[in-house]
Amino acid sequence: MNSIYTICYVSKVAPNLSDKDIQDLFKFTATINNKNKISGILLHSLDNFFQVLEGDEKCLKDLYNKIKEDPRHYELYEVYNKKTIHPVFSNYKSTFDIVKTATDLKLVLAYLNQDIANSTNRKLKRLLTPFDLLGDF
Ligand SMILES: Cc1cc2nc3c(=O)[nH]c(=O)nc-3n(C[C@H](O)[C@H](O)[C@H](O)COP(=O)(O)O)c2cc1C
Repeated sequence: MNSIYTICYVSKVAPNLSDKDIQDLFKFTATINNKNKISGILLHSLDNFFQVLEGDEKCLKDLYNKIKEDPRHYELYEVYNKKTIHPVFSNYKSTFDIVKTATDLKLVLAYLNQDIANSTNRKLKRLLTPFDLLGDF
């Protein structure tokens, strides 16, 4: 049986990407991830992408291979790539979450705080706090 898997990374947005390209990517990602039962978040702020993906191991590994090769970003820094006992985002929202505003991010941080004893939640909170300090994006 395939297990639940988590992948998390930060990357830099390709310089030629327009706002429209980013909105199109958001729309595509939310739709296809919901269809494929992948949960998580995708955030864009200050020329960075931050993404957490949770779901079936094989499905995620195949997807990650495509994402890594995608020319719309570069200098991908991997934070997590591991099996998960307690997925963080599968209970967050019924849909894959695109974090578009400072308010969206505050909701994610408040959600992570609910189970801050969990080390994954603590690490994600640490990684996301700098984006929160920047204010609206
Ligand atoms: C920052 C970033 C995040 C992405 N996230 C996803 C994602 O969560 N799910 C997805 O299906 N594609 C995502 N993609 C798009 C994939 O790289 C790829 O273009 C898409 O899966 C279509 O691949 P295909 O045409 O080979 O089917 C992302 C791309 C970028 C640049």
